[in-house]
Amino acid sequence: MITIREETFADVEAREALLDACFSDERFAKTCERLREGRLPAAGLALVLEKDARLAGTVRLWHVTAGPRRPSLLLGPIAIDPALQGLGLGSKLMRAALKRAKALGHRSVLLVGDAPYYERFGFLAVKTKELSLPGPYEPERFLALELVPGALSGARGLVSATGERSPLPNVSTLAHRVGRPALAA
Ligand SMILES: CC(C)(COP(=O)(O)OP(=O)(O)OC[C@H]1O[C@@H](n2cnc3c(N)ncnc32)[C@H](O)[C@@H]1OP(=O)(O)O)[C@@H](O)C(=O)NCCC(=O)NCCS
Repeated sequence: MITIREETFADVEAREALLDACFSDERFAKTCERLREGRLPAAGLALVLEKDARLAGTVRLWHVTAGPRRPSLLLGPIAIDPALQGLGLGSKLMRAALKRAKALGHRSVLLVGDAPYYERFGFLAVKTKELSLPGPYEPERFLALELVPGALSGARGLVSATGERSPLPNVSTLAHRVGRPALAA
């Protein structure tokens, strides 16, 4: 049985193990991590997918501003257990996250990822043409989706983190502090 629900503290270890399996620890050096480290995810938008009561997928969305005074969300990382990839679980989790973000009143979502995958959900690089990220990235992989039509019209400038600060240093913050170099997102 597949269940999608909000992440709890008890999921953190399994979520981190899943991310390690999917990405290696270079994930901590990505530019998007600079927008997540030391922050809490947006309320209600840290989700896990369970298959038969085992954590098999994760996605989180984070508060950012897409240029000055334009609240938006940054999505990522999203990952599905390598043994269960290609079965439609990633799409299910993605659609659930986007539906939830819209229901919570968010207006747009940004991410860095493979356009051939994210285009199916409506993400386009053209929407981020005038935006930039605080570090190296490949512009063709910097994508956005408007949950409300026109939400990113005229959006320009730097994407900055605006989420609530986390009371605890998280693993990504610690990895960054040991001085890993920045990687393209
Ligand atoms: C990307 C990911 C979340 C997709 O989840 P999934 O459950 O495997 O995907 P789905 O089963 O819903 O969709 C499969 C489709 O996506 C395509 N796809 C998967 N990853 C892709 C990628 N990186 N680029 C292009 N297409 C991709 C598959 O070819 C397949 O296409 P089809 O529907 O035409 O056959 C998952 O493969 C994963 O965790 N990958 C490793 C981590 C990662 O790269 N995360 C994304 C970057 S943040």
